[in-house]
Amino acid sequence: MSNPALELVQVRKVFSKKEGSNKRFSRSKREVVALDGVSLSVGRREIFGVLGPNGSGKSTLIRLVSTLLLPDSGMIRVFGHDVVREEATVKRMINRVSVDAAFFKKFSPLENLSYAARLYGLPMREARAWMREILLRLGLPEEAFTQPMEQLSRGMQQKVAVARGFLTSPTLLLLDEPTTGLDPHSKRDVQAFVREIRAEHDATILLTTHDMEEADRLCDRIAIIDKGKIIALDTPVGLKGMVERRNGRSPTLESVFLELTGHPLDEKEVVE
Ligand SMILES: Nc1ncnc2c1ncn2[C@@H]1O[C@H](COP(=O)(O)OP(=O)(O)OP(=O)(O)O)[C@@H](O)[C@H]1O
Ligand SMILES: [Mg+2]
Repeated sequence: MSNPALELVQVRKVFSKKEGSNKRFSRSKREVVALDGVSLSVGRREIFGVLGPNGSGKSTLIRLVSTLLLPDSGMIRVFGHDVVREEATVKRMINRVSVDAAFFKKFSPLENLSYAARLYGLPMREARAWMREILLRLGLPEEAFTQPMEQLSRGMQQKVAVARGFLTSPTLLLLDEPTTGLDPHSKRDVQAFVREIRAEHDATILLTTHDMEEADRLCDRIAIIDKGKIIALDTPVGLKGMVERRNGRSPTLESVFLELTGHPLDEKEVVE
C-alpha cells in the first residue's frame, strides 16, 4: 500500500501537426513536443497542481493519466498500476473533469447527472440525494437544477461538469482547469468543495490551472510547467522561497514563474 497515488517517469508526448488543410499539400509535418521528460510523484490525499501557460502541456498530461492518450515513452502509474498495460484498472480509479465536458443540452443538470449515475451503476435513490447536495454545495441555484443545460450560463454548466466528476468517489480525481471562466465567488465554491471532498473521501487530486492565486491557496504542491517541461516543483511556500523579496514585498507565484522562465504566465500564446 505504499505506492504513490500517481507516478510519472520521464514521460514524453509528441504530436505531429500537418501543415495546411489540403491533403495534397500536407506532406511537411511539424512536430510539437507537448511533454518532454516529465517526472513527478503525487502522494495519497495530496492536492497537486500543474501550473502553466496556454499550450504548456497541462491537458496533455491529464489526458495521458486518464488513458485517453498514449505516451510515446516513459511510464505512468496510478496507485502502482501502469496506465497502458492496466488501462481498465486505472479507469476504475480515476475521474476526469474538463471544461469541454459533453452533456445532453436539452436535458437538465439533474437528468444529465442521473444518466451518468446510471452509467456508473450507482444506486439511484442515494445518487439523487447526493447529486442535489453536490450541486447546492457548488453554489448552483436550485432553479437551474431542472432547466435545460443549453439555457444555463457557461459557468453553471461547468459546475455541473465538476459535480459529475464527484458523483462517484474516485481515488484519483483529475481536474483540468476546474475553475477557469468562473466568477470569483463560484471559484471559491469549487475550491472549497475540492478541499472538502479530499477530507471526506480520502481522494487524491491532480488539477491544472493558470490561476496562480488558486494554485497558491488550494494546492499542497505545485509543478510549474513551461513548454512541456517541469521547471520547478515544490510547495507554494517553497516555490516562493526561490525568489528573493523585492522592495520589501513577499514574492508571488507570478514572480517565481517570471524569474524561472523570463516571461509572464498570462502572456498571450506566441504563434511561431
Ligand atoms: N491532439 C493534438 N494534436 C496535435 N497537437 C496537440 C494535440 N493536443 C495538444 N496539442 C499541442 O500540444 C501542446 C500542449 O497542448 P495542451 O493542450 O496540453 O496545453 P495546455 O497547457 O492544456 O494549454 P491550455 O492552457 O490552453 O489549456 C500545444 O502546442 C498543442 O497545440
Ligand atoms: Mg488545457
